[in-house]
Amino acid sequence: MEMVCSSITHLGSGKSHLQGSRCQSSIHPLDSLTSKSKEEVNKLIEEAKTAQKSWAKTPLWKRAELLHKAAALLKEHKVPIAECLVKEIAKPAKDAATEAVRSGDLVSYCAEEGVRVLGEGKFMVSDSFPGNERTKYCLTAKIPLGVILAIPPFNYPVNLAVSKIAPALIAGNSIVLKPPTQGAVAALHMVHCFHLAGFPKGLISCVTGRGSEIGDFLTMHPMVNCISFTGGDTGIAISKKAGMIPLQMELGGKDACIILDDADLDLAAANIVKGGFSYSGQRCTAVKVVLVMESVANALVEKVKAKVAKLTVGLPEDDSDITPVVTESSANFIEGLVVDAKQKGATFCQEYRREGNLIWPLLLDNVRPDMRIAWEEPFGPVLPVIRITSVEEGIHHCNASNFGLQGCVFTRDISKAILISDAMETGTVQINSAPARGPDHFPFQGLKDSGIGSQGITNSINMMTKIKTTVINLPTPSYTMG
Ligand code: G3H
Repeated sequence: MEMVCSSITHLGSGKSHLQGSRCQSSIHPLDSLTSKSKEEVNKLIEEAKTAQKSWAKTPLWKRAELLHKAAALLKEHKVPIAECLVKEIAKPAKDAATEAVRSGDLVSYCAEEGVRVLGEGKFMVSDSFPGNERTKYCLTAKIPLGVILAIPPFNYPVNLAVSKIAPALIAGNSIVLKPPTQGAVAALHMVHCFHLAGFPKGLISCVTGRGSEIGDFLTMHPMVNCISFTGGDTGIAISKKAGMIPLQMELGGKDACIILDDADLDLAAANIVKGGFSYSGQRCTAVKVVLVMESVANALVEKVKAKVAKLTVGLPEDDSDITPVVTESSANFIEGLVVDAKQKGATFCQEYRREGNLIWPLLLDNVRPDMRIAWEEPFGPVLPVIRITSVEEGIHHCNASNFGLQGCVFTRDISKAILISDAMETGTVQINSAPARGPDHFPFQGLKDSGIGSQGITNSINMMTKIKTTVINLPTPSYTMG
């Protein structure tokens, strides 16, 4: 709690990540936040274990009640939380406020869904299996796993934290949250709302510190019973080290957008721009490659170009569409992809422009498979267009990726769309809309290097429980029914 307050005071100083050079990160929130030592981490996890034991015995309706309180507080604290998101991760002001509200809604829905999902068990009778009499009754219930380690990413430090915290809590688990380096103050403010709601001491704790220093210690900790992680390929390393515990991993994506020649091109262009450039492309579900049929490519590119020209570029406080990417190394990585594409002959639809971490939106046409940007995830406002001569070519490109998060297809022919959806090796395919995780109760999962397990509120609640059965053995009947 003390840490939350000192962090918020720090934010009140009016410093911004854009100070110094206008578009360059000049402060890191963790420079002014305490980094937890291994001893402190051990203590927090032990407290989480103890708190979880009594929390698991707290009636489900009471757990739900507290979650509803936390949801209301998150919405009440929308302004300061959004302010943190703007300053720490350069999220445009409106999107930052939306993240806080969406998080409150997610927590409320989770409370309600938890009451439904966890309030029911199963009753089975033995004589449905060959060779058995009706002498065994089996009762199943869902019980908590224990201590859940939640590791959200910088791009949704609040929303992708509560998408782990709320299912864990309603299911009777405790939470150890490792917030992202950038976004930690927003995450602490969110945790503060849970504390204000009255959750027991020790049940929800926050471990600040750099992943490179405490990451392995946390993820390999013997008292952690489950890890829910969202982020980049660090998740692959975590899953190799974590041991025999359930894992929920949402890693990267190279979400393809396939445009057929009968597509509504205005609809497609609007979704490509929204899907590719919102939050400057820093979403795992962003449109990351457009695969368009050659016959409509010129028309589509013109429509997308016209919309890109209208995007505003600048500060998150001004609610600009395109804001600085999260770190200088991200900006350098994006630039590397752009330079590679330039050298290999991609057509630049706009001039490439960068100031510090601020990169102007860029559409790259005539991208070919030998260019890095055809396969790698820029996590920035740079979008490649590959022209295809058959739908099969588009599906082949999508499936040749090591990622398999989402994809989308634009066509007026629903039968074709469904066949293409079946053929695309991704966790979700959107028909006539850009990829997106929400609504937050929908299942959300990646194939291949994009993840393990399925998220969405109901799936997360189930994933954070295990099945417990009690079998009632009856005496063999000594009478027969007449
Ligand atoms: O960055 C990864 C997020 O799960 C994407 O969520 O589709 O709501 O932006 P979103």
